[in-house]
Amino acid sequence: MSDSGKSIESFSGEEQRYEPTPAFSAQARIKTKEEYDKLYQESIESPETFWKRETSELVFRKPWDKLVDWQLPFAKWFVGAELNITESCLDRHLETERKDKPAIIFEGEPGDTETLTYTQLHQKVCDFAAALKANGIGPGDRVAIYMGMVPEVVIGMLACARIGAAHTVVFGGFAAEAIRDRINDCGAKAVLTQDGAWRRGKVVPLKATVDAALEGVKSIEKVFVYRRMSAQDCTIEMQEGRDLDWYEAIKAADSSLGVEAEIVDAEHPLFILYTSGSTGKPKGVLHTTGGYLAGTHLTTKYVFDLQEDDVYWCTADVGWITGHSYIVYGPLSNGASCVLYEGAPNQPDWGRFWNVIEKHKVSILYTAPTAIRAFIKAGDEWVDKNDISSLRLLGTVGEPINPEAWRWFYQKVGRGECPIVDTWWQTETGSIMMTTLPGVHAVKPGSCGVPFFGVKPAIVSSEGEELRPGEGGLLVVQNPWPSMLRTIWGDDERFKAQYFSDIEGAYFTGDGARFDQEGYFTVVGRIDDVLNVSGHRIGTAEIESSLVAHEAVAEAAAVGRPHDLKGQALVVFVTLKPGFDGNAEMEAALSAHISNEIGKFARPDLVVLVDSLPKTRSGKIMRRILKDVAAGREVQGDLSTLEDRTVVESIQARFS
Ligand code: PRX
Repeated sequence: MSDSGKSIESFSGEEQRYEPTPAFSAQARIKTKEEYDKLYQESIESPETFWKRETSELVFRKPWDKLVDWQLPFAKWFVGAELNITESCLDRHLETERKDKPAIIFEGEPGDTETLTYTQLHQKVCDFAAALKANGIGPGDRVAIYMGMVPEVVIGMLACARIGAAHTVVFGGFAAEAIRDRINDCGAKAVLTQDGAWRRGKVVPLKATVDAALEGVKSIEKVFVYRRMSAQDCTIEMQEGRDLDWYEAIKAADSSLGVEAEIVDAEHPLFILYTSGSTGKPKGVLHTTGGYLAGTHLTTKYVFDLQEDDVYWCTADVGWITGHSYIVYGPLSNGASCVLYEGAPNQPDWGRFWNVIEKHKVSILYTAPTAIRAFIKAGDEWVDKNDISSLRLLGTVGEPINPEAWRWFYQKVGRGECPIVDTWWQTETGSIMMTTLPGVHAVKPGSCGVPFFGVKPAIVSSEGEELRPGEGGLLVVQNPWPSMLRTIWGDDERFKAQYFSDIEGAYFTGDGARFDQEGYFTVVGRIDDVLNVSGHRIGTAEIESSLVAHEAVAEAAAVGRPHDLKGQALVVFVTLKPGFDGNAEMEAALSAHISNEIGKFARPDLVVLVDSLPKTRSGKIMRRILKDVAAGREVQGDLSTLEDRTVVESIQARFS
């Protein structure tokens, strides 16, 4: 926990409430507060009854002997059960009318479309599962996926799950170095990639980046390459013996290999997803099969009030947890029709999202506040050009939503009648933990709402004492829940230290929050050294360790400052080694260094070259001072531990 974690200022803003319309509530899956209260109470007091009923439509080949085995901090859910998650996401629908229902409605950035029904998606997953098996990949192996937003990325993830291999999807914005670190950390045996992806009318050369990432990597035996591009748009090199064309590999394999799903234990690893924490090394968050399925299935169904004829669009990238849970596993296990959009929100112009909604008659839109702020800036006319009246429910995720963005989303996009669910959760939680239910709860803009079934959040002081309504403190979860992370891949100690050591007996989220008299939670933001830049989670320690690896850098400190569009922006302060010049070229070179080592999305807004950094007498960098300076604020708080005050003055002078 950072030194700023003691207490968080609380405030009570003006309180506006938006009730669901009677028409929405009348058709909703859960219609009244009494129903929610009863289900919530059951989920806490009789979880066996609750989860048995609520998972009854999912495919468990062997039922569980015990619901949960909780050896703090290690949880096992659905103990003794056996299943394959793809049977719940695919096979079970083939027995019903859903077999011809669109599962994926793909919209390519250039405007090409492709629809895969549940029958077709199932076939493609079985075919690719056969190709993986034929190439020696099997249960317990890890497979890295570095792809864009194309149907094959979903097929690849599900094919891994079908054969019992764990996938680790690396967001397509990460650079070669970051891919290599992740592959080495989990010892992946194969990579799934594609030649290139469309982004803002340009080709992102994914395969070439994989080639660079794999230099010196020993564990990778095969690279499967899906060809999205024509040869004119993107040329690639295929390495003999290692690289296989996706569809050629399918042709060469015995197709019967993928038909039978590998039945695994409920606690079998499903995927590893790397995320940033407060140290320099990303953490491989491990999710397992049964609990993750239960959590994502139930939240998708109730939070998005999913109905059979909905067209559902989650705009996240599949490289983040939102894409895993709410593009792939949650919606497909519910038999939903999901839009998958390949490209940027402003390609060819800022009307693209609204155009996709009109074209595919999207009824549920789940997006991020940072995107909403960008749309506001682009202007209302882009929305007005399209008929988006098919929308009936809106959702946001990833960061606190500011009231201005909320109101615009509600009025302009939702016509003042679509409920908005503001969903709070994390890579680690696997599925939505706090939200309102759209047919039940009034929404208070800026507050994410109440706990989802089975979740017991609390606000505590840094000593672990439970706080009262209105008091700001640390957000913890007091009980285990099915889709919680099981550990950090290969590092149980770090798992314990990171999440279960700050507050005794509880999972510590890293967030600061408060709750009100009615039990609504408001998440203020991270209290550790993790930033949220345009909805991307970035560890400042990761940025700093990348910078100090540069030959010119002596010391580095990375901090966030408020930004109108991105939520937070990254500012880095650097001291150089003797013999290096602090000029504009150096600033640009350090910015490019971060982009090359981590990815373009982590490029700082500002690189500030300074003579020294503010430190305590014991030599600890005082980042809170740098945060104030970067934000253009007066430096707050106690400065008595500062070793040399003139350092602060000289840094401040750089900003005036
Ligand atoms: O600080 C919280 C913020 O995003 C963090 C989790 O980031 P990540 O693991 O990348 O997952 C993002 C998508 C689930 C949280 O610790 N956060 C997420 N949702 C909200 C939020 N902050 C406020 N309101 C939200 N609805």
